Amino acid sequence: MIGVANGRRVGITGLGVHVPERVLTNEELSTLVDTSDEWIMSRTGIRERRIAAEDEALTDIARPAAIAALERASLEPKDIDLLVCATVTPDMMFPTSSAILADELGAPDAAAYDLLAGCTGFVYAIAQAYSMVAAGLSQRALVVGGDVLSKILDWTDRSTLVLFGDGAGAVVLEHVDDGGFLGFELGADGGGGRHLWLPGSGSRRFDDQESFVKMNGREVFKFATRVMIYSAEKLLDECGRTVEDVDVYVPHQANVRIIDYATKKLGFPEEKVVVNVDRYGNTSSGSIPLALADAEKDGMLKPGALVLMTGMGAGLTWGSALIEWTDEVRRQ
Ligand code: ACO
Repeated sequence: MIGVANGRRVGITGLGVHVPERVLTNEELSTLVDTSDEWIMSRTGIRERRIAAEDEALTDIARPAAIAALERASLEPKDIDLLVCATVTPDMMFPTSSAILADELGAPDAAAYDLLAGCTGFVYAIAQAYSMVAAGLSQRALVVGGDVLSKILDWTDRSTLVLFGDGAGAVVLEHVDDGGFLGFELGADGGGGRHLWLPGSGSRRFDDQESFVKMNGREVFKFATRVMIYSAEKLLDECGRTVEDVDVYVPHQANVRIIDYATKKLGFPEEKVVVNVDRYGNTSSGSIPLALADAEKDGMLKPGALVLMTGMGAGLTWGSALIEWTDEVRRQ
């Protein structure tokens, strides 16, 4: 699916993130499984990641991110009429984490649902929220992207354990006078889904009832490097923009080698690329908002800056969003 924004301008007016306190380093991991800091750094670029506490679930890390995003937008929770939560690790299947968050935040009039699109969840969710706001169905949407993948990892499997971390982010989407989203490109390849899957997590029964992330890393790597280029180029072309027009490139933070490959192939200079996978690992749906927050902290998200985000992940799914960053919302 590809589309150029053709309705009223919709932008991001608030951004907030949150990660658990606990830092898990490569050195510590090497006491749990047969791995080393050297292997993890050279193959992934990850130095450390955040891990949720035993009693911390998705909504516990998503809530502070959502509150921060609303504060940044100078909004009260009751001003939100739509809450989409992108995650593959909800507190439970139902009630949905979005409904739990809407209740806890105090957004009683918000439609709320969870969205399942692997690590691309955040990009899918902002595309949906954009569409509802642009069409006039929603006035103000809160999009949360977050995961606590540490809860669904096999802590004896070094091939997946070292890659992931926990974290969440949230953005407010509403009408803006300047800038806003220019377009989206989204896709899925269910045929490749077997390369990254969570058996025993739904209604299909397997003999092996262990419900841990299983991954064919090499196949996912090949898929990721392909779609990161394809999706970005296709969207830029559709929007009549070029790589040179983009001020900030925010790739999904899965592996620094995937990011480096995409950066070089697309032709972005390093200073335009946001990288924080070294500090957080792959936080799935939390990855792009966490990277956006770092870009903002580093002064990269200036009003008018053209920002390209591209995600990919389980499904297999991928997606890109192009947005002209907005300064302040002017509400009537
Ligand atoms: N520590 C030490 N050795 C390891 C580890 C580890 N943590 N993991 C694997 N190895 C070993 C393997 O057993 C293998 O050993 P062998 O040669 O004796 O068989 C060797 O290292 C090389 O393994 P490869 O899988 O070939 O290593 P590769 O260079 O491909 O890197 C990696 C593996 C990092 C997983 C890479 O393939 C990758 O990043 N893939 C993409 C993964 C990804 O992005 N997944 C998330 C998608 S997003 C989502 O929706 C969740």
